[in-house]
Amino acid sequence: MVQRFSRVAGTGSCLPGPPITNDDLVARGIDTSDAWITERTGIRARHLADAGQTASALAEPAARVAMAAAGVGPDDVDLVIVATSTPDFVFPSTACLLQARLGVRGGAAFDVQAVCSGFVYALATADLFVRTGQARCALVVGTEVFSRILDWKDRATCVLFGDGAGAVVLVADERPGILASALHADGSQAGILCVPGAIAGGGVIGDPFLRMDGQAVFKFAVRVLDEVAREVVAKAGIDIAAVDWLIPHQANLRILNAAARKLGLPAERVGVTVDRHGNTSAASVPLALDAMIRDGRIRAGHRVLLEAVGGGFTWGAILLEA
Ligand code: ACO
Repeated sequence: MVQRFSRVAGTGSCLPGPPITNDDLVARGIDTSDAWITERTGIRARHLADAGQTASALAEPAARVAMAAAGVGPDDVDLVIVATSTPDFVFPSTACLLQARLGVRGGAAFDVQAVCSGFVYALATADLFVRTGQARCALVVGTEVFSRILDWKDRATCVLFGDGAGAVVLVADERPGILASALHADGSQAGILCVPGAIAGGGVIGDPFLRMDGQAVFKFAVRVLDEVAREVVAKAGIDIAAVDWLIPHQANLRILNAAARKLGLPAERVGVTVDRHGNTSAASVPLALDAMIRDGRIRAGHRVLLEAVGGGFTWGAILLEA
């Protein structure tokens, strides 16, 4: 029997509104500066959704572009997985809302909640569905409106994040696309990055805003990104030097650079969009992947290592051949 793999057939993005620069944030009254944000994070701009733009509203155009690039229509898609921590509603899932927006019928649709690792979790899950024959054509989307859960009075966090969506169509193929993946979590670290609130009795119980111990997150992220990258290339039986492109979760340029340095990969082989997008959580990896495919840097046959780390704590990596 021919072995069945999954392969990325198309990608797409959606970024709401114009870029909001660091100086724009200062003009909006946030007690910060372009120099502070750029020096500590590498972030120069981000996009912010309007009040009416939901996670599914950003996901829809990203998904349509990915489907067009893959040459598939709504009738072909038999699995929709959405990674988000900022869903439209408590329920139904954003994946079900996206399925309806796209006119996709049948097949499974569900959300994955792994915060900034969400897209890597979702893509690894879709790969299993495709490889085991439970789906032939999966739509995997990371979409976030993180601006909704930011405390705009907390300058240490509100300057770091942005909104957006990135989508991938994953299809069954005899040639390998996804070569290996690894996912991990450590719930004992939940407190260093969280939104510790819940809806109950018609209101919010606890705190509805993102809280973060920045230095603890920094150290944790650099360590686990290194470990999981090595784990996944070892699983695939290749050397780290054979990776053409590293696309880490776009949290912060210093985390990206530290991760690449530890792996011995030169900065020229690292995908960076955090300067333009800020940290878009589950959308960051597919946004960067789409940008690099569209500008021609990632070409057929290139080996691309996606990796992410986020609240939970969760982390994971995927090695794929474009
Ligand atoms: N503008 C100006 N000054 C600021 C700002 C700001 N936006 N934010 C904080 N400061 C000030 C603080 O008040 C403090 O001032 P003080 O010394 O007078 O008390 C000073 O800057 C230093 O604050 P720290 O919080 O210690 O700053 P640090 O050097 O740790 O940098 C940062 C903060 C950039 C968040 C850093 O910890 C970091 O990169 N952490 C990684 C976390 C990250 O990227 N998280 C993203 C989400 S997690 C994820 O996606 C996995």
